[in-house]
Amino acid sequence: MTLAALLDSLPIPILQAPMVGATLDEMTVAVSEAGGMGTLAAGALAPADIGPAIDAIRTRTSASFGVNLLMAPKADPAPGEVDAALARLAPWYADLGAPLPETPNQFAPDFDAQFDAVVAAAPPVASFTFAILTPTQVKRLQAAGTYVVGTATTVAEARAWAEVGADGVCAQGFEAGGHRGHFLGDIEQSLVGTLALVATIRAAVDLPVIAAGGIMDGRGVAAGLALGAAAVQMGTAFLLADETVTSRPWRRAAAAATDDPTRLTRAFTGRYARGIENRFMRLMHGVQDDVPAYPVQNRLTQPLRAAAAKADDPEYLSLWAGQAVRLARTGRAADMIRAWWAEAAEVADALTARTRRGQETE
Ligand SMILES: Cc1cc2nc3c(=O)[nH]c(=O)nc-3n(C[C@H](O)[C@H](O)[C@H](O)COP(=O)(O)O)c2cc1C
Repeated sequence: MTLAALLDSLPIPILQAPMVGATLDEMTVAVSEAGGMGTLAAGALAPADIGPAIDAIRTRTSASFGVNLLMAPKADPAPGEVDAALARLAPWYADLGAPLPETPNQFAPDFDAQFDAVVAAAPPVASFTFAILTPTQVKRLQAAGTYVVGTATTVAEARAWAEVGADGVCAQGFEAGGHRGHFLGDIEQSLVGTLALVATIRAAVDLPVIAAGGIMDGRGVAAGLALGAAAVQMGTAFLLADETVTSRPWRRAAAAATDDPTRLTRAFTGRYARGIENRFMRLMHGVQDDVPAYPVQNRLTQPLRAAAAKADDPEYLSLWAGQAVRLARTGRAADMIRAWWAEAAEVADALTARTRRGQETE
């Protein structure tokens, strides 16, 4: 079998995007059981918890699913950098009445150990973002029976994943919610829209492409497939699903999103990510280039964000969401993907009728 064949065999070619902080195994199982493919967001899990989480999914579904890891670089803050970052954050902690954290011993789970845990558990699919695996790492996963999907925000990144032997590429357009997955060019080079990105990667790389970014319903699903994607990956569209574990203020902000509410920011984590603009993003905008790189800033703001969630305050919280968040619906994930797939069929029928009409009058 190939990844292309696996995606083609899905009753519904919709992948649920892994969303650290918003989804756990409940969502993965719900989407896979409904005929799509769920993905476990394992990026924030301790290596020892990854195997049991994958086993727990296997006991609940025999359908295919994916596991996703964030390839955080080894944290290496310059002398004084952490102290300066904490001093910058101190007024924010004070505002919330939360204690300023000490310098942490560890900034992110150890990627190599997380990776070993995924290889040992051998899920059907493993996807990666923020960097690129080595050919040896790709081969280890494949030898365990796992298809490898790399996130690309440019054609160059898609080519790089093809060169290390990946089985597929997730094309992450500029519209996407959450962190940008870029790893070759700078942020500006990575800001390609989904429409252009999927089509140009398709033309350049002979691998199945998964379209991600701004896909919110059956129209987007049909559009992604029409561009030549083998499947689509949807994140923000699931943000209000019953199975998400988003905090109350985050959920409220997503439900109340107005037109064009999102911006890219580096202020929360030290890596550019898209979220609904709030007070923290606005006031930190001018100094966002000064904050330490991911994962350091991410770790330093974690207690702040946890305190904000507890205080039910959306202004100090990372409200990750994509450009089209206004279209997010509530309900069960299984009902959502069935409805999107039915809508995609309607869109395809309407397009067929329209194109036929055009040809008849020629
Ligand atoms: C809340 C949130 C968290 C995310 N977390 C991850 C993650 O852990 N790993 C990952 O590869 N992508 C993550 N993403 C990005 C998604 O994989 C995907 O690129 C994006 O959701 C697609 O765009 P959309 O949000 O417009 O559907 C996240 C997206 C959101 C909205």
